[in-house]
Amino acid sequence: MAQVSQDGRTWLLSGPASSYALHVTDRDELVHLHWGPRITPADAEALAARPLPDDWPFESRLDGREEYPVEGGPRFVRPALSVRTVDGRRGTEWAFDGHETDDGETGDGELRLRFRDGELTVTLHYRMRDDVIERWVTLHNRGPAVELLRADSATWTLPEREHWRLSQLHGRWAAESRLTRSPLTYGEKVIGSRRGHTGHQHLPWVALDTDATEERGEVYGCALGWSGSWRVCVAQLPDARVQITGGAGHDDSGLLMLGTAETYVTPVFAGLWSDGGFGGASRAWHAYQRTYVVPDADRDRPVLFNSWEATGFDISEERQRGLAARAAEMGVELFVVDDGWFGARTSDRAGLGDWTPNPDRFPGGLKPLADHVHGLGMEFGIWVEPEMVNPDSDLYRAHPDWVQFQPGRRRTEYRNQLVLNLARDDVREYLWEQLDGLLSGAPVDYVKWDFNRCSTDAGWPDDPYPQRLWTDHVRGLYALLDRLRAAHPDVAFESCSGGGGRIDLGVLSRTDQVWTSDNTDPLDRLTVQHGFSQLHPARVMAAWVTDSPNAMLNGRVSPLRFRFVSAMAGVLGVGGDLARWGEEELAEAREWVALYKEIRPVVQRGDLYRLRPPEGGLSAVQYVLGDETVVLACLQAQHYGEPVPALRLRGLDPEASYECRETGETYRGALLLHHGLRTGLRGDLDAVVVRLRRLRSDD
Ligand code: GLA
Repeated sequence: MAQVSQDGRTWLLSGPASSYALHVTDRDELVHLHWGPRITPADAEALAARPLPDDWPFESRLDGREEYPVEGGPRFVRPALSVRTVDGRRGTEWAFDGHETDDGETGDGELRLRFRDGELTVTLHYRMRDDVIERWVTLHNRGPAVELLRADSATWTLPEREHWRLSQLHGRWAAESRLTRSPLTYGEKVIGSRRGHTGHQHLPWVALDTDATEERGEVYGCALGWSGSWRVCVAQLPDARVQITGGAGHDDSGLLMLGTAETYVTPVFAGLWSDGGFGGASRAWHAYQRTYVVPDADRDRPVLFNSWEATGFDISEERQRGLAARAAEMGVELFVVDDGWFGARTSDRAGLGDWTPNPDRFPGGLKPLADHVHGLGMEFGIWVEPEMVNPDSDLYRAHPDWVQFQPGRRRTEYRNQLVLNLARDDVREYLWEQLDGLLSGAPVDYVKWDFNRCSTDAGWPDDPYPQRLWTDHVRGLYALLDRLRAAHPDVAFESCSGGGGRIDLGVLSRTDQVWTSDNTDPLDRLTVQHGFSQLHPARVMAAWVTDSPNAMLNGRVSPLRFRFVSAMAGVLGVGGDLARWGEEELAEAREWVALYKEIRPVVQRGDLYRLRPPEGGLSAVQYVLGDETVVLACLQAQHYGEPVPALRLRGLDPEASYECRETGETYRGALLLHHGLRTGLRGDLDAVVVRLRRLRSDD
């Protein structure tokens, strides 16, 4: 809820643990006052009364203090907003035009601050979601067209501290979401994507702290909700002030032309302050996503089987039926046919774009297999990659101009495919018809939506401002997903992009889970999942148990137990070639799946405590939901015969007693917290699941 000062120029937003305050000066400068622990309106006004420093020729009084630095005037920081009129004038000089709050019974507490520069209205939006602040900006133009060179979602200002440290998640294909921390130095640190999708290289998230540990200390985090190119810039200014500016688009070359009466809405750039260390910050992000972002997050995700690693492109109805029978026996709840079921798609060279079942492989279409899968008691899912086309496809032969391309230039192919232009109405309409037809023609419960290459030639020959393709393709994708979800409310969607190439708060607001990485090696996955969990909850993190030796990546041999426990930290799936699994393996897998179903509510909806990071020999995560606690521990390698350390648990009541479901033993919370739990792990690649239940006096 927003509290407003009497003169209507100072605002205070507060969540359960934090506050955020800002102020418009008598010169209509919008300055940041506070982001941190809860303060009172009087505190905010006291901060507002502090004068800004004097201007002098080499430093700006505004730099490092403004909520949304526009281009031009007495500023030297990176502008969040950069506008050019058609006659070439750049910059913004705004006047404050009032505020609105949506408090009260039905309001969600959104605060809107309106500024005007001639015919252009800039509205800054703020919405508290518990302790996460969602910020975004609306630009409305009533005058002649203007070019939006840059319109970031927000600039976040950190308090004055020494020695800031930056956490980020970096990666590449099959190695996504790896956490790194480094001291912040003077200048700008820019991360982003110039690829047209979120990218494997960084999740759009940063965290800043000075001395936080996993469970203690202040952490500031910012996460962008956008699935196209993006940029987040962390700047340490000459006076050591730190600001974080982020939004859609990868450079200043232009977002779009804003015509008369047109509106542009930026994506949300969300911010969180926590004093619970990195773990506390993650738990707050997870709760935020489960409550406000991910659709139906209180509905647990089923255990799935996916055929990709088992069959590659070599699929047939008969083989899928064989896999389905084994999956069903194992307790799998959702059977997904991956790539290769449609058009002439017998390899990655042809067929993308032609979304009708391959008549040789599925003579009766998908319905017979879907019915068979349903008959086995499982849901049925399919893989699609709607934004792409192989040049060797009926779609491309009919519409070579539907792809993104620059006239007179080579069309860059990756994996023998080109990217369709979803900013075009006719392309979206075609895809809508194909996908709606598919979902109506066979009982499909789940769609894995892939995006298997970056955009390169983002041209649009017939459009007067082709630059808008970078944003409008993403909006086209969102519109298509929204329309499909509305028409088929029972169908779940997974966001995939060659693994984790499209994971962000934007896509998560319209999908049910994401494919975390094409790397299904259970050891590598511990690191990927550790990074992923900094921001996103287990409820959306798909993880498969695949074959040993690992066929996809590294040939590593690992016990089934280790593969299962590693994958049980998220939404469990199985992706091995079950036709080659022996009876013993299948029977063991059945037990693991049954165990996962039991702990699933705690994993998918509980609070996550990262007990030990994956760098050491022993790593462990703990989930707590109500009276239930689950610990998943993985030992990579035991050295020198040394005893494996006990796991000091967290989030328990020291006064309560806990019964271990595995051993039947009872432990006092205080001892589990202080002395820890012995896991009995030993050797290499050992793993265990421990379930604890808090005993109530009547138990
Ligand atoms: C991507 C996905 C894989 C699989 C293949 C199919 O790489 O990440 O899981 O679906 O495409 O071509």
